[in-house]
Amino acid sequence: MNLAQQLNDTKEHINQYLSRLLQERVAIAPRLNEAMHYALVLGGKRVRPFLTLHVGALCGADQHSLERAAAAVECIHAYSLVHDDLPAMDNDSLRRGHPTCHIAFDDATAILAGDALQTLAFELLSSPDKKLNPNRQLEMIHVLADGSGDRGMCGGQALDLAATGNAVPESELAQVHIHKTGALIRAAVQLGVLAGHDDAQSYRAHFDAFAHYLGLAFQVRDDILDVIGNTESLGKTQGSDIQANKTTYVSILGLEGAQQRLHDLHHKALHALGKIPYNTQLLEAFADHLLNRDH
Ligand code: IPE
Ligand code: IPE
Ligand code: MG
Ligand code: MG
Ligand code: MG
Repeated sequence: MNLAQQLNDTKEHINQYLSRLLQERVAIAPRLNEAMHYALVLGGKRVRPFLTLHVGALCGADQHSLERAAAAVECIHAYSLVHDDLPAMDNDSLRRGHPTCHIAFDDATAILAGDALQTLAFELLSSPDKKLNPNRQLEMIHVLADGSGDRGMCGGQALDLAATGNAVPESELAQVHIHKTGALIRAAVQLGVLAGHDDAQSYRAHFDAFAHYLGLAFQVRDDILDVIGNTESLGKTQGSDIQANKTTYVSILGLEGAQQRLHDLHHKALHALGKIPYNTQLLEAFADHLLNRDH
């Protein structure tokens, strides 16, 4: 099966899982659940679930355990986008081709939808699962918490806000990107490995190095797309970083410099992948696709 088909199938599969997940919940506050559905199910590339599912499949993990972990990471990601778009943060009005959650609903509902998506992620990961060794399951919860919190995504978001409007050195900007975006991509990959066989655990560091470079490169591409993309295909407002005076790889290195850095990081990601003695062709094709994407 080629990459385009795999991308489509995986997206379809995870979308069904996410829709069912929210439909089956008894809503005590229907408007809140509507906002969660809006933020989680409507659009999105499902990059992190793809990584969890396919890394996990390579590592011999159970499909149901992987689906749950993949959905958990996407819940954290969706929450991070809802909060990222709020007036107090990036103040954006378009996301995944639709008005941002706080515009479609209101600020308070968007904050709560983000909060509830975050706790839903941990509800999923901590659900009884006979296919997982309990110690591994605990480690998975820990990995997602670490990737999401003050030493992961939230920490990166705080650094991003502090860097806004400042010409920080590239090493500092790398720290922003490694945390705000890279940390969750690393967690997505780690969850796949941790759900896998014992043998696969010896390759955890190589998978992690792959995810580290891929995550940083993914955010560099995001910075580039803010400049060269267009609003319609991006599904978010092109030029938003420039408008908000954000510090990005392009604002620091220029477009060509950012593209060169992207190329170097892509190369490093593939090098790490090359150390894993499994058939990593699909992951390699996925990395190529992600780092050349137009949205
Ligand atoms: C957008 O992430 C924010 C970043 C971390 C760069 P994605 O580009 O994965 O957004 P969706 O999920 O496809 O909307
Ligand atoms: C995304 O950074 C990081 C998180 C949402 C955690 P951006 O602010 O660059 O993402 P977009 O461009 O709004 O999607
Ligand atoms: Mg942001
Ligand atoms: Mg933003
Ligand atoms: Mg961006």
